[in-house]
Amino acid sequence: MGKLILDKLYNRKGTDCVKWDHKDFVDSRVSDTALPLWLSDMEFKVADEITEALIKRVEHGFLGHSMPGDSYFESVQGWYKRRFNWTISKDSIFYSPGVLPALGFILRGFTKKGEGVIIQEPVFYPFAELIEGTDRKIVNNQLINNDENYSIDFIDLENKLKDPNNTMLILCSPHNPVGRVWTKDELKKIVDLCQENEVLIFSDELHCDLTRANVTHHPLKTISDYSKIITAVALGKTFNVGGVPISQIIIDDEELKQIWHKETRKKHYISFAPPLDMVLAETAYNKCEYWVDEVMEYVEQNFDFLVDYLNKHLPKVKYKKPEGTFLAWINFGAYVDYEKLFELLITKYDLLIENGHVFGESGAGYFRMTVACPQSMLEEGLNRIVKAIKELTDN
Ligand SMILES: Cc1ncc(COP(=O)(O)O)c(C=O)c1O
Repeated sequence: MGKLILDKLYNRKGTDCVKWDHKDFVDSRVSDTALPLWLSDMEFKVADEITEALIKRVEHGFLGHSMPGDSYFESVQGWYKRRFNWTISKDSIFYSPGVLPALGFILRGFTKKGEGVIIQEPVFYPFAELIEGTDRKIVNNQLINNDENYSIDFIDLENKLKDPNNTMLILCSPHNPVGRVWTKDELKKIVDLCQENEVLIFSDELHCDLTRANVTHHPLKTISDYSKIITAVALGKTFNVGGVPISQIIIDDEELKQIWHKETRKKHYISFAPPLDMVLAETAYNKCEYWVDEVMEYVEQNFDFLVDYLNKHLPKVKYKKPEGTFLAWINFGAYVDYEKLFELLITKYDLLIENGHVFGESGAGYFRMTVACPQSMLEEGLNRIVKAIKELTDN
């Protein structure tokens, strides 16, 4: 283990951070004191280099209108080349104030009202919200869950891709919340099927840096040169700066670039980028690789701790360490009804974890919780779950 202090708990309350200060966003019954193991936000301080670079930039005293420049583009290109051997051309990198806003632009720019957009539930729920919010149709290619091993139902996917009304697939790669990191073969199959049916792929690769030590993420663009792929990457999860609205949307195809340009510049007037966020991105990508590696080692230890803990205290729970993300996806159904457990946790045991049904019907029974926190915090949360389960099973 390196030099970062990762087992210290910091006081984040009073900063209006969603995880600690706005827990009622999830359920109005959650108390202000609840232990938050919800939301994909780490409990680790950002790298010192980031803090120092931001202070220096602020001390300069000018924060006027800014645009991405060469040093910003080079930092993005350098990161993806080093980490994934992915060569990204400078003129393929587009700024967006977040991955989800980009998805909103893409839904509106590249699909029409009433068209079907395929997602793979259980999946990050804002996808469905945005599809509905833009008056497109949610088409669910549900993942197959075989004893906690998730895979893609390719027969169903092919059928859905063949339907001419379905014009776009949102691929979550790595997958939040089930934690799969899709293999080269799986990705190749997905992209080939989309290409055969000329379906646009939005590949959300936000969690690409958060893989277990023996697992490799493959950017979709390194698997295929199919022209209708748009990739979203960002530093929010990787460097624990989720509150900072900056992401990189990668588009190679000239026709697609024109549509993106029209949607962002002409319809939403997005032409500039926030100066502090660009400094943050450059610093993170150029100087903070060690931070991500160390944090991922700690997260891996926490997953091992979680597996041991469940084996010891809740042996009937079938749980598999995920290949990617820092999120655990657990079903306590062998012991209790999940709705009762959720209610007891928030009303009596003062613990907030996420109820899996928000990720789609197939998520019912599951809970999502973050393990990117000091191990003592994770253990405290698990102790509360065990107590709640004991209370429900004793009665
Ligand atoms: C798969 C995935 N995509 C997108 C986001 C949100 O990205 P942004 O904050 O850049 O909109 C998240 C956040 O948890 C996520 O897990």
